[in-house]
Amino acid sequence: MATSDLVVIGAGPGGYVAAIRAAQLGLDTVLVEKREALGGTCLNIGCIPSKALLESSSLFRRLHTDVDLHGIRVSGVTLDLATMMARKDGLVAELTRGVALLMKKNKVSVLHGTGRLDGPGRVVVALASRGETVLEPRAVLLATGSAPVELPFMPFDGERVVTSTEALSFAEVPKSLAVIGAGAVGLEMASVWSRLGAAVTVIELLPQVAPFADADMAKELGRALKKQGIRFHLGARVTGATLDDAGVTLAVEDRRGRPLEVAVEKILVAVGRRPFSDGLGLETVDLAPDPQGRLLVDKEFRTAAAGVYAIGDLVEGPMLAHKAEEEGVAMAEILAGRPGQVHSAVIPSVIYTSPELAQVGLTEAEAAQEGREVRVGRFPFRANSRARAMGETAGLVKVVADAETDRILGVHAVGPHVSELIGEAVLGMESGATAEDIARTIHAHPTLSEALKEAALDVAGRAIHS
Ligand code: NAI
Repeated sequence: MATSDLVVIGAGPGGYVAAIRAAQLGLDTVLVEKREALGGTCLNIGCIPSKALLESSSLFRRLHTDVDLHGIRVSGVTLDLATMMARKDGLVAELTRGVALLMKKNKVSVLHGTGRLDGPGRVVVALASRGETVLEPRAVLLATGSAPVELPFMPFDGERVVTSTEALSFAEVPKSLAVIGAGAVGLEMASVWSRLGAAVTVIELLPQVAPFADADMAKELGRALKKQGIRFHLGARVTGATLDDAGVTLAVEDRRGRPLEVAVEKILVAVGRRPFSDGLGLETVDLAPDPQGRLLVDKEFRTAAAGVYAIGDLVEGPMLAHKAEEEGVAMAEILAGRPGQVHSAVIPSVIYTSPELAQVGLTEAEAAQEGREVRVGRFPFRANSRARAMGETAGLVKVVADAETDRILGVHAVGPHVSELIGEAVLGMESGATAEDIARTIHAHPTLSEALKEAALDVAGRAIHS
């Protein structure tokens, strides 16, 4: 039996960042992880490998579609999928090794094994190297993340009906792929495989792609992806699936209730994720997840059980790595007796398609639902000189500001590299900036960031270039 200040269960971005921060603050910290590599879903089978494949597949597509325009003649471009996958796997291996080094550097003890609560104040770890060990820490942080949601009539088989994990490692480009769900996973993986040559059909229950996004942005992104050859059935419901040797035939009800069939080689089910607390021994400390599978925590990430904390995908809020990281930092600071908090209204989110979609804060519709009077500024990338020089003019930036105070309530963008541009909006909102503040801030010319400045100017109806 070993004592420590903190045992963190789960080494994803939430857990490992919490462990580093706790160690920095002088807490004796143990990190428990059942996977061989640290980094959780994000590094191993999520954010990072998907970005690697998005980058590679984008390059492949551009070599076919864009380079001619630049006066570059390329011929004989072929795909070596095995090398593309090996590059992705290599990147994941490097980054997860990097996390292991960070643990050493910060003197966090890592235990490879499956941790579970075993009554108040006790954690049992079934070690990967056989046997069990018991820990009795001052606090336990549950950071076990989430798992893909399965459709009841179409269980995952890892071959024809797959999760994003398998879709990140197909050995061959499927001839045809249906993607169920037009959220972040669905749109990113649809992009990868469509760029590499698969005929991709996306089926989404709600009437727009990226249903959580501002309606204008969703429309713009949907239009761009359609142009790239992805087919969409929006407002459509999958009612059944028949599997045979050739693949899967989906029975779909389209948005008018008409039946249609979609026959494909593979299906990616990307209808969301559920908090993952299976086998965690919650019952031993009288904890139970809510009907959505989440653990209820207070503002300081305390569950109802003494000494047990939870963060990340396990608790309320968007299932995003950067949200989990920030919660991990705050939790460690609180445990060390410092103030720690996460401003949940200002969490950016991004879909790494081409163009990208990035947003922070309230959409126009959400602001209206809250009964706020807003003024909205827009600026299209086709009027931005840098975007034109890049030849990437799809999309726009939209600033939603409070009509009375001019404070920025939300910023929404579809366009090139808007994942980077959104950082300025996040900082602005964190600092209580008004649209006028952004509008009067000098932005380098020519940059994509001028589109944000112009959208902020447009809030007061005085954009210069449109
Ligand atoms: P999601 O919640 O973002 O999207 C799921 C989509 O599936 C929704 O549009 C929903 O309306 C639709 N849907 C649900 N049931 C359906 C059905 N029966 N038929 C058709 N459509 C249906 O979930 P997703 O994309 O699986 O991602 C899981 C989590 O991981 C999300 O929280 C997401 O934010 C996060 N993530 C973030 C990424 C990023 O930040 N770039 C990338 C990938 C995932």
